[in-house]
Amino acid sequence: MKISNVTVLGCGLMGSGIAQVCAQAGRKVTVIEVADDLLKKGLGGIEKQMAKSVEKGKLTAEAKEETMSRLAGSTRLEDAAGADLVIEAIIENIEEKHRTYSALDKICRAEAIFASNTSSLSITQMMTATSPERQRRFIGMHFFNPVPIMKLVEVVRTILTDPEVFQTATEFGREIGKVPVQTSDRTGFIVNRLLVPYLLDSIRALEEGVASIVDIDNAMKLGCGYPMGPLTLGDFVGLETTYYIANIMFDEFKEKRFAPPPLLKRMVMAGLHGRKTGRGFYDYSDPQNPVPMKLL
Ligand code: 3HC
Repeated sequence: MKISNVTVLGCGLMGSGIAQVCAQAGRKVTVIEVADDLLKKGLGGIEKQMAKSVEKGKLTAEAKEETMSRLAGSTRLEDAAGADLVIEAIIENIEEKHRTYSALDKICRAEAIFASNTSSLSITQMMTATSPERQRRFIGMHFFNPVPIMKLVEVVRTILTDPEVFQTATEFGREIGKVPVQTSDRTGFIVNRLLVPYLLDSIRALEEGVASIVDIDNAMKLGCGYPMGPLTLGDFVGLETTYYIANIMFDEFKEKRFAPPPLLKRMVMAGLHGRKTGRGFYDYSDPQNPVPMKLL
């Protein structure tokens, strides 16, 4: 099956990145948001991101215009009707996802593949909102932030996924310039299963006085060659997102390594969510020069 028309649901950080890479790879993309202002903000972000690449000489102005011309925005779910593949990147709320998938199932063609970009909710639970035929065409496609830069996509099958659909999605991941890895529907897939305990352990190390924020980050950055230290990465991902994922993983596996440490919980309660709220483990008042917070 050839994937020519892609619909992306949600035009936030992840949805807009996914829409951009699909359009850059020559696909016609319809991006659907719930409100006009969110749509404008998302499409504006894509344009800005590509304008920067043109400035740096990494992209031609023509290629940018061609990509933009392949992107259409909408606030009507009905506009997903022509999709070969729908990639959903809406809010991580199972009730909202169920409502959306149930409506989408009636709108889309029988052959259309449904893929969720969820990082921690169960693909199997989401798929139950659709017909038995669609359930065979339901998978996860989990991208990483920032989507235009990060090379990975996790392709996730359930126990009911048609092997051909799994292969088509994997191949599609390759065609849009990513390196696909295949996994099955277990909370956290591959990356978050390994990444989340690491992020939580770095917070536990801080809580236990092992070292300062900056020294923990420098240790892993310079000692292990990671592009960001774990506390900086927590701020980048969002501490409320990290907390949310950790709780779902703890609920699934009942293992201590997934349990969110008290400091993380308190930071989330206090509104210190990381870069997006201006403060987390660092204060981003000057975004070029983050200053470590005094938390303990
Ligand atoms: N969007 C698009 N492009 C971006 C970007 C963004 N948000 N941030 C940086 N870039 C681009 C820059 O423009 C630059 O492009 P260039 O090479 O063409 O000039 C390039 O990335 C490198 O950026 P910088 O020089 O400013 O900074 P770095 O070298 O530190 O790179 C980074 C930034 C790519 C974000 C790097 O620090 C990194 O890889 N960090 C780790 C990110 C990571 O682990 N992401 C996964 C998070 S987990 C996740 O998403 C899963 C979820 O379920 C939780």
